[in-house]
Amino acid sequence: MFKIAVVPGDGIGKEVVREGLKVLEKVEELSNVSFDFEEYPFGAEHYLKTGELLPDWALEEFRKTDGIYFGAVGDPRVKPGVLEHGVLLKLRFSLDLYVNLRPVKLYHPSLTPLKGKERIDMVFIRENTEGLYVGSGGFLRKGTPQEVAIQEMVNTRFGVERAVRFAFEYARKTGRKRVTLVDKANVLTYAHDLWERVFEEVSAEYPDIETDHYYVDAMAMKMVRSPEQFDVVVTPNMFGDILTDLGAEIVGGLGIAASGNINPEGTGMFEPVHGSAPDIAGKGIANPIAAILTASLLLEHLGLDKEARAVEEAVKRAISEGKLTPDMGGSLKTSEVGDAVVEALEVVYSEG
Ligand code: NAD
Ligand code: IPM
Ligand code: MN
Repeated sequence: MFKIAVVPGDGIGKEVVREGLKVLEKVEELSNVSFDFEEYPFGAEHYLKTGELLPDWALEEFRKTDGIYFGAVGDPRVKPGVLEHGVLLKLRFSLDLYVNLRPVKLYHPSLTPLKGKERIDMVFIRENTEGLYVGSGGFLRKGTPQEVAIQEMVNTRFGVERAVRFAFEYARKTGRKRVTLVDKANVLTYAHDLWERVFEEVSAEYPDIETDHYYVDAMAMKMVRSPEQFDVVVTPNMFGDILTDLGAEIVGGLGIAASGNINPEGTGMFEPVHGSAPDIAGKGIANPIAAILTASLLLEHLGLDKEARAVEEAVKRAISEGKLTPDMGGSLKTSEVGDAVVEALEVVYSEG
Protein backbone atom coordinates (compact mmCIF):
# COMPACT_ATOMS: atom_id res chain seq x y z
CA MET A 1 0.00 0.00 0.00
CA PHE A 2 1.47 3.34 -1.08
CA LYS A 3 0.56 6.47 0.85
CA ILE A 4 -0.02 9.39 -1.51
CA ALA A 5 -0.85 12.98 -0.54
CA VAL A 6 -3.00 14.72 -3.15
CA VAL A 7 -2.96 18.52 -3.50
CA PRO A 8 -5.17 19.50 -6.46
CA GLY A 9 -4.65 23.25 -5.79
CA ASP A 10 -6.24 25.87 -8.01
CA GLY A 11 -7.89 26.35 -11.39
CA ILE A 12 -7.31 23.52 -13.83
CA GLY A 13 -5.08 21.85 -11.21
CA LYS A 14 -8.26 20.44 -9.68
CA GLU A 15 -9.66 19.41 -13.07
CA VAL A 16 -6.60 17.54 -14.30
CA VAL A 17 -5.73 15.86 -10.99
CA ARG A 18 -9.21 14.31 -11.00
CA GLU A 19 -8.33 12.58 -14.29
CA GLY A 20 -4.91 11.51 -13.03
CA LEU A 21 -6.56 9.90 -10.01
CA LYS A 22 -9.05 8.15 -12.28
CA VAL A 23 -6.11 6.58 -14.10
CA LEU A 24 -4.31 5.62 -10.87
CA GLU A 25 -7.51 4.02 -9.57
CA LYS A 26 -7.72 2.01 -12.79
CA VAL A 27 -4.10 0.92 -12.23
CA GLU A 28 -5.17 -0.36 -8.80
CA GLU A 29 -7.98 -2.33 -10.40
CA LEU A 30 -5.78 -3.84 -13.12
CA SER A 31 -2.69 -4.68 -11.04
CA ASN A 32 -2.00 -5.75 -7.48
CA VAL A 33 -0.84 -2.29 -6.47
CA SER A 34 -2.88 -0.20 -4.05
CA PHE A 35 -2.85 3.41 -2.96
CA ASP A 36 -4.01 5.24 0.10
CA PHE A 37 -4.88 8.74 -1.19
CA GLU A 38 -5.25 11.61 1.26
CA GLU A 39 -6.46 14.90 -0.19
CA TYR A 40 -5.36 18.31 1.12
CA PRO A 41 -7.11 21.64 0.42
CA PHE A 42 -4.09 23.95 0.09
CA GLY A 43 -4.35 26.65 -2.54
CA ALA A 44 -6.20 29.93 -3.18
CA GLU A 45 -9.63 29.00 -1.82
CA HIS A 46 -8.20 27.69 1.44
CA TYR A 47 -5.88 30.69 1.76
CA LEU A 48 -8.64 33.25 1.17
CA LYS A 49 -10.85 31.49 3.72
CA THR A 50 -8.30 30.79 6.46
CA GLY A 51 -5.13 32.79 5.73
CA GLU A 52 -3.22 29.50 5.80
CA LEU A 53 -0.80 28.56 3.00
CA LEU A 54 1.03 25.33 3.84
CA PRO A 55 1.28 24.58 7.56
CA ASP A 56 4.20 22.72 9.10
CA TRP A 57 1.99 19.86 10.30
CA ALA A 58 1.10 19.14 6.67
CA LEU A 59 4.76 19.13 5.66
CA GLU A 60 5.40 16.59 8.42
CA GLU A 61 2.60 14.41 7.07
CA PHE A 62 3.93 14.77 3.52
CA ARG A 63 7.38 13.64 4.65
CA LYS A 64 5.88 10.31 5.70
CA THR A 65 4.18 9.68 2.38
CA ASP A 66 5.52 7.73 -0.58
CA GLY A 67 4.71 10.62 -2.88
CA ILE A 68 2.75 13.83 -3.34
CA TYR A 69 0.51 14.33 -6.36
CA PHE A 70 0.11 18.05 -7.04
CA GLY A 71 -2.05 20.00 -9.51
CA ALA A 72 -1.13 23.68 -9.71
CA VAL A 73 -1.44 26.87 -7.68
CA GLY A 74 -2.10 30.45 -8.74
CA ASP A 75 -5.25 32.54 -8.65
CA PRO A 76 -6.02 36.01 -10.03
CA ARG A 77 -7.50 37.02 -6.64
CA VAL A 78 -4.19 36.48 -4.85
CA LYS A 79 -1.07 38.60 -5.35
CA PRO A 80 1.47 36.83 -7.62
CA GLY A 81 4.05 34.99 -5.58
CA VAL A 82 1.98 34.40 -2.44
CA LEU A 83 0.72 30.93 -3.39
CA GLU A 84 3.71 30.13 -5.57
CA HIS A 85 6.14 30.75 -2.70
CA GLY A 86 3.81 29.80 0.14
CA VAL A 87 2.72 26.44 -1.23
CA LEU A 88 4.68 25.21 -4.26
CA LEU A 89 8.18 26.51 -3.55
CA LYS A 90 7.75 25.81 0.16
CA LEU A 91 7.10 22.18 -0.73
CA ARG A 92 10.12 21.98 -3.02
CA PHE A 93 12.44 23.70 -0.53
CA SER A 94 11.22 22.23 2.76
CA LEU A 95 11.31 18.67 1.45
CA ASP A 96 14.66 19.43 -0.23
CA LEU A 97 13.41 18.17 -3.60
CA TYR A 98 16.58 19.23 -5.34
CA VAL A 99 15.88 17.84 -8.79
CA ASN A 100 13.04 18.85 -11.04
CA LEU A 101 12.92 16.14 -13.69
CA ARG A 102 11.06 17.18 -16.83
CA PRO A 103 10.89 14.87 -19.85
CA VAL A 104 10.45 16.42 -23.28
CA LYS A 105 9.23 13.56 -25.42
CA LEU A 106 7.47 13.53 -28.77
CA TYR A 107 4.70 10.92 -28.54
CA HIS A 108 3.51 11.37 -32.11
CA PRO A 109 5.18 13.21 -35.03
CA SER A 110 1.99 15.19 -35.69
CA LEU A 111 2.33 16.95 -32.32
CA THR A 112 5.42 19.03 -33.03
CA PRO A 113 5.13 22.42 -34.73
CA LEU A 114 8.69 21.89 -36.04
CA LYS A 115 9.04 20.81 -39.64
CA GLY A 116 10.29 17.29 -40.33
CA LYS A 117 11.00 16.27 -36.73
CA GLU A 118 10.17 12.67 -35.89
CA ARG A 119 12.14 11.99 -32.75
CA ILE A 120 12.51 14.29 -29.77
CA ASP A 121 13.35 12.61 -26.48
CA MET A 122 15.28 14.56 -23.90
CA VAL A 123 15.06 14.86 -20.13
CA PHE A 124 15.70 18.10 -18.26
CA ILE A 125 17.33 17.89 -14.86
CA ARG A 126 16.55 21.31 -13.42
CA GLU A 127 18.31 22.27 -10.19
CA ASN A 128 15.36 22.92 -7.88
CA THR A 129 16.44 24.41 -4.54
CA GLU A 130 18.86 27.22 -5.39
CA GLY A 131 19.57 29.86 -8.02
CA LEU A 132 17.16 32.77 -8.34
CA TYR A 133 14.48 30.85 -6.46
CA VAL A 134 15.86 31.09 -2.92
CA GLY A 135 13.81 34.21 -2.18
CA SER A 136 16.78 36.20 -0.97
CA GLY A 137 16.97 39.96 -1.57
CA GLY A 138 14.99 43.03 -0.72
CA PHE A 139 13.96 46.58 -1.48
CA LEU A 140 15.73 49.79 -0.62
CA ARG A 141 13.91 53.14 -0.77
CA LYS A 142 10.82 51.26 -1.94
CA GLY A 143 8.26 53.35 -3.78
CA THR A 144 10.66 56.23 -4.44
CA PRO A 145 12.32 57.17 -7.73
CA GLN A 146 15.56 55.94 -6.21
CA GLU A 147 14.20 52.50 -5.46
CA VAL A 148 16.58 49.55 -5.48
CA ALA A 149 15.26 46.01 -5.89
CA ILE A 150 17.68 43.15 -5.36
CA GLN A 151 17.00 39.47 -6.01
CA GLU A 152 19.97 37.31 -5.18
CA MET A 153 21.01 34.22 -7.05
CA VAL A 154 22.54 31.57 -4.83
CA ASN A 155 24.71 28.73 -6.14
CA THR A 156 26.46 26.42 -3.71
CA ARG A 157 29.11 23.86 -4.52
CA PHE A 158 27.01 21.25 -2.72
CA GLY A 159 23.77 22.20 -4.49
CA VAL A 160 25.26 22.35 -7.97
CA GLU A 161 27.18 19.13 -7.52
CA ARG A 162 24.20 17.06 -6.40
CA ALA A 163 22.10 18.22 -9.36
CA VAL A 164 24.90 17.57 -11.86
CA ARG A 165 25.66 14.19 -10.30
CA PHE A 166 21.99 13.26 -10.47
CA ALA A 167 22.02 14.03 -14.21
CA PHE A 168 24.96 11.68 -14.84
CA GLU A 169 23.53 8.95 -12.61
CA TYR A 170 20.19 9.30 -14.37
CA ALA A 171 21.85 9.03 -17.78
CA ARG A 172 23.66 5.89 -16.72
CA LYS A 173 20.63 4.29 -15.12
CA THR A 174 18.37 4.94 -18.10
CA GLY A 175 20.90 4.02 -20.79
CA ARG A 176 21.15 7.57 -22.11
CA LYS A 177 24.39 8.56 -23.77
CA ARG A 178 24.96 12.26 -23.24
CA VAL A 179 24.57 15.03 -20.67
CA THR A 180 24.41 18.65 -21.85
CA LEU A 181 25.11 21.54 -19.49
CA VAL A 182 23.17 24.75 -20.15
CA ASP A 183 24.32 27.93 -18.40
CA LYS A 184 25.32 31.53 -19.05
CA ALA A 185 28.90 31.50 -17.83
CA ASN A 186 29.89 34.11 -20.41
CA VAL A 187 27.97 36.68 -18.37
CA LEU A 188 27.44 35.09 -14.95
CA THR A 189 31.19 34.76 -14.54
CA TYR A 190 31.05 33.71 -10.88
CA ALA A 191 27.86 31.74 -10.48
CA HIS A 192 28.06 29.77 -13.68
CA ASP A 193 31.80 29.46 -13.58
CA LEU A 194 31.08 27.28 -10.56
CA TRP A 195 28.60 25.26 -12.63
CA GLU A 196 31.18 24.71 -15.38
CA ARG A 197 33.92 23.62 -12.99
CA VAL A 198 31.63 21.26 -11.12
CA PHE A 199 30.30 19.81 -14.39
CA GLU A 200 33.81 19.13 -15.63
CA GLU A 201 34.88 17.48 -12.40
CA VAL A 202 31.80 15.30 -12.06
CA SER A 203 31.82 14.30 -15.73
CA ALA A 204 35.34 12.90 -15.31
CA GLU A 205 33.79 10.21 -13.08
CA TYR A 206 31.47 9.16 -15.92
CA PRO A 207 33.75 8.40 -18.88
CA ASP A 208 30.95 6.30 -20.41
CA ILE A 209 28.72 9.39 -20.79
CA GLU A 210 29.42 12.05 -23.45
CA THR A 211 29.12 15.70 -22.54
CA ASP A 212 28.44 18.96 -24.28
CA HIS A 213 27.57 22.52 -23.39
CA TYR A 214 25.45 25.45 -24.60
CA TYR A 215 24.78 28.92 -23.33
CA VAL A 216 21.11 29.30 -22.60
CA ASP A 217 20.36 31.65 -25.52
CA ALA A 218 21.90 29.25 -28.02
CA MET A 219 20.10 26.39 -26.29
CA ALA A 220 16.74 28.04 -26.95
CA MET A 221 17.71 28.27 -30.61
CA LYS A 222 19.00 24.66 -30.78
CA MET A 223 15.84 23.31 -29.15
CA VAL A 224 13.89 24.65 -32.11
CA ARG A 225 16.41 23.86 -34.82
CA SER A 226 17.72 20.46 -33.75
CA PRO A 227 16.04 19.15 -30.59
CA GLU A 228 16.86 15.57 -31.64
CA GLN A 229 20.49 16.12 -30.61
CA PHE A 230 19.70 16.33 -26.88
CA ASP A 231 19.50 13.52 -24.40
CA VAL A 232 19.89 14.59 -20.73
CA VAL A 233 20.15 18.32 -20.03
CA VAL A 234 21.22 19.78 -16.68
CA THR A 235 20.64 23.45 -15.92
CA PRO A 236 20.09 25.99 -13.14
CA ASN A 237 16.65 26.60 -11.69
CA MET A 238 15.39 29.60 -13.69
CA PHE A 239 16.74 28.43 -17.05
CA GLY A 240 15.14 25.04 -16.42
CA ASP A 241 11.82 26.73 -15.77
CA ILE A 242 11.89 28.68 -19.01
CA LEU A 243 13.37 26.03 -21.29
CA THR A 244 10.87 23.40 -20.20
CA ASP A 245 7.89 25.53 -21.30
CA LEU A 246 9.69 25.80 -24.65
CA GLY A 247 10.36 22.06 -24.50
CA ALA A 248 6.67 21.42 -23.88
CA GLU A 249 5.68 23.43 -26.94
CA ILE A 250 7.93 21.51 -29.33
CA VAL A 251 6.29 18.19 -28.37
CA GLY A 252 2.61 19.11 -28.20
CA GLY A 253 2.23 21.88 -25.64
CA LEU A 254 2.01 22.54 -21.93
CA GLY A 255 -1.02 20.28 -21.84
CA ILE A 256 1.18 17.19 -22.04
CA ALA A 257 4.33 18.19 -20.10
CA ALA A 258 4.94 16.26 -16.86
CA SER A 259 7.40 16.75 -14.03
CA GLY A 260 8.73 15.23 -10.85
CA ASN A 261 10.34 17.05 -7.92
CA ILE A 262 12.74 14.51 -6.52
CA ASN A 263 15.11 13.83 -3.68
CA PRO A 264 16.39 10.29 -4.13
CA GLU A 265 16.50 9.88 -0.34
CA GLY A 266 12.98 11.03 0.48
CA THR A 267 9.50 11.48 -0.80
CA GLY A 268 8.81 13.19 -4.15
CA MET A 269 6.29 15.70 -5.44
CA PHE A 270 4.81 15.16 -8.88
CA GLU A 271 3.07 17.93 -10.85
CA PRO A 272 2.40 18.96 -14.42
CA VAL A 273 4.72 21.66 -15.81
CA HIS A 274 1.75 23.94 -16.46
CA GLY A 275 0.03 26.25 -14.00
CA SER A 276 -3.57 26.84 -12.96
CA ALA A 277 -4.50 28.36 -16.37
CA PRO A 278 -7.14 30.85 -15.15
CA ASP A 279 -8.00 31.62 -18.79
CA ILE A 280 -9.57 28.20 -19.28
CA ALA A 281 -10.33 27.11 -15.70
CA GLY A 282 -13.87 25.90 -15.09
CA LYS A 283 -14.58 25.23 -18.76
CA GLY A 284 -13.83 21.52 -18.65
CA ILE A 285 -11.40 21.75 -21.57
CA ALA A 286 -8.03 21.53 -19.80
CA ASN A 287 -5.80 18.84 -21.19
CA PRO A 288 -5.33 16.15 -18.51
CA ILE A 289 -2.47 14.37 -20.31
CA ALA A 290 0.27 16.31 -18.48
CA ALA A 291 -1.27 15.30 -15.16
CA ILE A 292 -1.70 11.69 -16.32
CA LEU A 293 1.93 11.46 -17.52
CA THR A 294 2.86 13.02 -14.17
CA ALA A 295 1.05 10.13 -12.49
CA SER A 296 3.22 7.83 -14.62
CA LEU A 297 6.36 9.56 -13.27
CA LEU A 298 5.00 9.05 -9.76
CA LEU A 299 4.53 5.33 -10.47
CA GLU A 300 8.11 5.15 -11.72
CA HIS A 301 9.31 6.87 -8.55
CA LEU A 302 7.47 4.23 -6.50
CA GLY A 303 9.41 1.53 -8.37
CA LEU A 304 6.31 0.48 -10.32
CA ASP A 305 7.97 0.48 -13.72
CA LYS A 306 5.49 -1.84 -15.40
CA GLU A 307 2.54 0.30 -14.30
CA ALA A 308 4.35 3.52 -15.28
CA ARG A 309 5.04 2.18 -18.80
CA ALA A 310 1.44 0.96 -19.12
CA VAL A 311 0.06 4.43 -18.34
CA GLU A 312 2.50 6.01 -20.79
CA GLU A 313 1.50 3.51 -23.46
CA ALA A 314 -2.20 4.20 -22.81
CA VAL A 315 -1.58 7.93 -23.26
CA LYS A 316 0.27 7.23 -26.49
CA ARG A 317 -2.67 5.23 -27.80
CA ALA A 318 -5.23 7.86 -26.81
CA ILE A 319 -3.11 10.44 -28.65
CA SER A 320 -2.75 8.38 -31.80
CA GLU A 321 -6.51 7.74 -31.81
CA GLY A 322 -7.01 11.53 -31.74
CA LYS A 323 -8.67 11.54 -28.31
CA LEU A 324 -7.60 15.13 -27.63
CA THR A 325 -8.66 18.38 -25.98
CA PRO A 326 -8.83 21.65 -28.01
CA ASP A 327 -5.28 22.79 -27.16
CA MET A 328 -4.05 19.78 -29.16
CA GLY A 329 -6.53 20.26 -31.97
CA GLY A 330 -9.22 17.92 -30.65
CA SER A 331 -12.73 18.58 -29.39
CA LEU A 332 -12.96 16.36 -26.30
CA LYS A 333 -13.56 17.50 -22.75
CA THR A 334 -11.04 16.97 -19.94
CA SER A 335 -12.99 14.02 -18.53
CA GLU A 336 -13.46 12.42 -21.96
CA VAL A 337 -9.70 12.33 -22.52
CA GLY A 338 -9.32 10.86 -19.02
CA ASP A 339 -11.88 8.17 -19.95
CA ALA A 340 -10.08 7.47 -23.24
CA VAL A 341 -6.81 6.88 -21.37
CA VAL A 342 -8.58 4.61 -18.87
CA GLU A 343 -10.05 2.57 -21.75
CA ALA A 344 -6.69 2.37 -23.48
CA LEU A 345 -5.15 1.23 -20.20
CA GLU A 346 -7.58 -1.67 -20.03
CA VAL A 347 -6.50 -2.72 -23.53
CA VAL A 348 -2.79 -2.36 -22.65
CA TYR A 349 -3.23 -4.60 -19.59
CA SER A 350 -5.34 -7.13 -21.49
CA GLU A 351 -2.49 -7.51 -23.97
CA GLY A 352 -0.17 -8.26 -21.06
P1 NAD B 1 -0.16 28.38 -17.27
O1 NAD B 1 0.75 27.23 -17.45
O2 NAD B 1 -1.20 28.23 -16.24
O3 NAD B 1 -0.89 28.70 -18.66
C1 NAD B 1 -0.19 29.13 -19.83
C2 NAD B 1 -1.08 28.92 -21.07
O4 NAD B 1 -1.14 27.53 -21.37
C3 NAD B 1 -2.52 29.37 -20.87
O5 NAD B 1 -3.00 29.92 -22.07
C4 NAD B 1 -3.26 28.08 -20.56
O6 NAD B 1 -4.61 28.08 -20.90
C5 NAD B 1 -2.47 27.06 -21.35
N1 NAD B 1 -2.49 25.75 -20.65
C6 NAD B 1 -1.75 25.41 -19.57
N2 NAD B 1 -2.04 24.17 -19.18
C7 NAD B 1 -2.97 23.70 -20.04
C8 NAD B 1 -3.67 22.46 -20.13
N3 NAD B 1 -3.46 21.44 -19.27
N4 NAD B 1 -4.58 22.33 -21.13
C9 NAD B 1 -4.80 23.32 -22.01
N5 NAD B 1 -4.17 24.53 -21.97
C10 NAD B 1 -3.27 24.71 -20.98
O7 NAD B 1 0.77 29.66 -17.00
P2 NAD B 1 0.37 31.15 -16.56
O8 NAD B 1 -0.88 31.55 -17.25
O9 NAD B 1 1.60 31.93 -16.73
O10 NAD B 1 0.10 31.03 -15.00
C11 NAD B 1 -1.19 30.94 -14.40
C12 NAD B 1 -1.00 30.77 -12.90
O11 NAD B 1 -0.42 29.52 -12.60
C13 NAD B 1 -0.08 31.82 -12.27
O12 NAD B 1 -0.60 32.15 -11.02
C14 NAD B 1 1.25 31.10 -12.13
O13 NAD B 1 2.05 31.61 -11.11
C15 NAD B 1 0.77 29.70 -11.81
N6 NAD B 1 1.71 28.62 -12.16
C16 NAD B 1 1.71 27.57 -11.28
C17 NAD B 1 2.48 26.46 -11.59
C18 NAD B 1 2.44 25.32 -10.65
O14 NAD B 1 1.69 25.33 -9.70
N7 NAD B 1 3.24 24.31 -10.85
C19 NAD B 1 3.20 26.41 -12.78
C20 NAD B 1 3.16 27.51 -13.65
C21 NAD B 1 2.38 28.60 -13.33
C1 IPM C 1 6.88 25.75 -12.68
C2 IPM C 1 6.29 27.09 -12.29
C3 IPM C 1 6.87 27.55 -10.96
C4 IPM C 1 8.39 27.73 -11.18
C5 IPM C 1 6.27 28.82 -10.37
C6 IPM C 1 4.77 28.76 -10.32
C7 IPM C 1 6.83 29.10 -9.00
O1 IPM C 1 6.47 28.02 -13.30
O2 IPM C 1 6.75 24.80 -11.91
O3 IPM C 1 7.44 25.65 -13.78
O4 IPM C 1 8.82 28.79 -11.64
O5 IPM C 1 9.11 26.79 -10.88
MN1 MN D 1 7.24 27.18 -15.15
